[in-house]
Amino acid sequence: MQLSRKEILNWLLAEDLQQLEVLWSLADQTRKRHVGGEVHLRGLIEFSNVCSRSCLYCGLRAPRDELPRYRMSSEEILDCARLARRCGLGTVVLQSGEDDALDVAWLEEVVRSIRRELPLAVTLSVGERSEAELRRLREAGADRYLLRFETSNLALLERLRPRQPAPRPARRIEILGILRDLGYEVGSGVMIGLPGQTHEDLARDIEWFRALDLDMIGVGPFIAHPETPLGRRPATFLAPDGKQAPPEELTAYKVLALTRLACPLANIPATTALSTLARGDGRRRGLLRGANVIMPDITPARYRSAYDLYPGQHDASPDILQECEQLGSMIEGIGRTLGRGRGDSENAKRRRHQPLTA
Ligand code: 5AD
Ligand code: SF4
Repeated sequence: MQLSRKEILNWLLAEDLQQLEVLWSLADQTRKRHVGGEVHLRGLIEFSNVCSRSCLYCGLRAPRDELPRYRMSSEEILDCARLARRCGLGTVVLQSGEDDALDVAWLEEVVRSIRRELPLAVTLSVGERSEAELRRLREAGADRYLLRFETSNLALLERLRPRQPAPRPARRIEILGILRDLGYEVGSGVMIGLPGQTHEDLARDIEWFRALDLDMIGVGPFIAHPETPLGRRPATFLAPDGKQAPPEELTAYKVLALTRLACPLANIPATTALSTLARGDGRRRGLLRGANVIMPDITPARYRSAYDLYPGQHDASPDILQECEQLGSMIEGIGRTLGRGRGDSENAKRRRHQPLTA
């Protein structure tokens, strides 16, 4: 269903809960028709919290010197991947901060070892990297790459993501094109309710998802972190005259549902940030409003509290087998089934079979 910018905006501004039931139901039907009833689980391995950037919203920002930093060893990562397999998961997501000192040869070897030993798809989420590095990682067997563009308001992004020597807010969009050309399944996404972000910005975000023909789309509410500039002084950044998009659960569901309508074939997770804000029920509700993926955190318990993007992120139980079982029951409870196999993106399959002609 192709909604106009005006229609998207009207939904984003809608407050009548009965009227919103129509949106939830449209998103749910679209999900069912295009990607079916399977819910794919991805095991998230937060293998390093070292980051060279200073994003004003994020608890991993480099200037935060009181945060203990860690890098997991390749054997620890491989152990997590084995655990993912034992839990019946088909994909692991290797995520870290944007670490300039990341040893790409080491990461290549990690990817190669996982692909050699286990029947798992490997998704990377390691920030902005050079084309040469992305190519090497792809050749080592990485299947998918996540790189959120965070907001389509590039002036806002420049403010929130300062970068030395010169900020390049559009760089992430360029990298998404490179990833596509290298044959990755390409994922991106945004935060919802960033200080300074308007409803118009969110409507444009959704249009960009479609224009970028994304295979995976993650959207989640911005959650203020007290140890960041945005958490300490949010009022300095807010959009004027009641234009500020609220970082609320309801806004997040609206963006999720509208994203499903804009990109029917994409894999869309009910994100951790959403479940953090909705105190546990966000994943279920997200699945009922357009989502078809969940990413349980399988990082070893000893590292979790240091992967501190935002508060409340790691409240869930660290017993991973038990969490996967609970997710399985929840999924069955809403009449859906656990995805089997790798859960590749239907959008990527469509693109491979019918390449767009110029
Ligand atoms: N609230 C919500 N999401 C956040 N991220 C970073 N900081 C926050 C926050 N305070 C998200 C960004 C990033 C991803 C790894 O985590 O979108 O791309
Ligand atoms: Fe680093 Fe990513 Fe956090 Fe920015 S959002 S500070 S790049 S981990």
